[in-house]
Amino acid sequence: MDFILNKKNSQREQWTSKLGFILAAAGSAVGLGNLWGFAYRSSQGGGAAFVILYILIVLIVCLPVFVAEMALGRNAISSSLIAPVKLGGKNWYPLGILFFIAPLGIASYYSVIMGWTADTFFHSLFFGLPKDLSEAENFFGSISSGSSVLLGHLLSLVLTAVVVSSGIKKGIEKVTRFFMPILFFILLLLAIWATSLSGAWEGYKTFLLKFELSQLANPQTIRNAFTQAFFSLSLGIGVMVTYASYLSKKSNLPKLSFGVALLDTLVGLMAGLITFPIVLTFGLSETISESTVGALFISIPTGLGAYGIAGRLVAVAFFALAYIAAITSSVSLLEVPVSSLMDKFGFKRGKSVCIITIILFLAGIPSALNLNILGIFDSIFGGVFLILGGFLVSFFMGWVVPGKLNEELNVSKVGTKTTRYLIFMTKWISPPIIGFGLVISIFDLIKGWMS
Ligand code: PFF
Repeated sequence: MDFILNKKNSQREQWTSKLGFILAAAGSAVGLGNLWGFAYRSSQGGGAAFVILYILIVLIVCLPVFVAEMALGRNAISSSLIAPVKLGGKNWYPLGILFFIAPLGIASYYSVIMGWTADTFFHSLFFGLPKDLSEAENFFGSISSGSSVLLGHLLSLVLTAVVVSSGIKKGIEKVTRFFMPILFFILLLLAIWATSLSGAWEGYKTFLLKFELSQLANPQTIRNAFTQAFFSLSLGIGVMVTYASYLSKKSNLPKLSFGVALLDTLVGLMAGLITFPIVLTFGLSETISESTVGALFISIPTGLGAYGIAGRLVAVAFFALAYIAAITSSVSLLEVPVSSLMDKFGFKRGKSVCIITIILFLAGIPSALNLNILGIFDSIFGGVFLILGGFLVSFFMGWVVPGKLNEELNVSKVGTKTTRYLIFMTKWISPPIIGFGLVISIFDLIKGWMS
């Protein structure tokens, strides 16, 4: 089989600058996962132990995986479906397939949640906020069922498709350059506003200071921390492989990945500094940790509903922020399969975008109509698959083609110490730790399904 249809590498688009890449990659990383995932996962009993584990996983495991993914994409100069075969031979096609299926799986339900976000935004803007918890639950019930959810799903996909069909420079880079500064600004304003809430201190304490040693060994906390780290950084799924394939040889991969990981973690922490004060001020802890998917859409409007017009304004800002964050992530989810079709079959960008968007719309219908299915998609595609992808990519770059990793680090003149450190981590540390996280996650997931 001919895997290498990407004959026109010389014409492959490139980011206009390093900043363009950083903002696009940070745009992918910063998304609903930071605002919604971080809050509910850390409140599922993990508290500070979850936050510590999450940060350790990012530093020890995810940074080397990030560099490994980027080295794979930049060395192969092709999309994530083809890249593993190009470097490692046909036996590695399954990894390419995983990188094709996982983003499709996530994108199919991500756009459903984006639809809820848009709905909540418009509702807060035009009609106001729910008066109490039961009204908020009814509201969430109404936005997460019926035809409006399909409409929200479709519109979000179309919007994403418009950006991706405009290409790397004129589409993804332009949108992320425009929106990321706005996102940071709104986030900062909201975090400052949250300090004024009566439950602010209580919120910070629950989020950052409630430390129980036993939580470090709790399988649910471990799974949550692994899932959050990989999901939030968009790792193990081919996004960074694809984005790095548009990167010039001069860019220093470790520096770029550190920059993106830092931005993403700061946003995750800042989101916690907004959601936790709201949740504790209005006594909503149970709502946020009970429901995996609806938390953000029930607790935030309920809390802010008690705050009159100021609360309504904050809700509008918050859900605008969430939608902006989501769109810069969903474009990356779409770009991965789109670029794969372009490379594999020589399709034009527009045609690939159309095909994948139709597939995503159909694949997302079950999640749009049934919250349990959405939850299952999230735990499989947004959890286990990413950790598996992270494991395979470090094994691949560390053991199968270590010379290519070395080559990519040398080309961009990364110092010898950093190079040696990254190669050591990719070979000896990441695979066993991620393997451990993967086994725990699979067991914990199955245990959850059985109970
Ligand atoms: N990182 C995004 C978020 O935190 O919402 C979600 C995501 C985007 C996950 C792209 C995976 C991915 F490939």
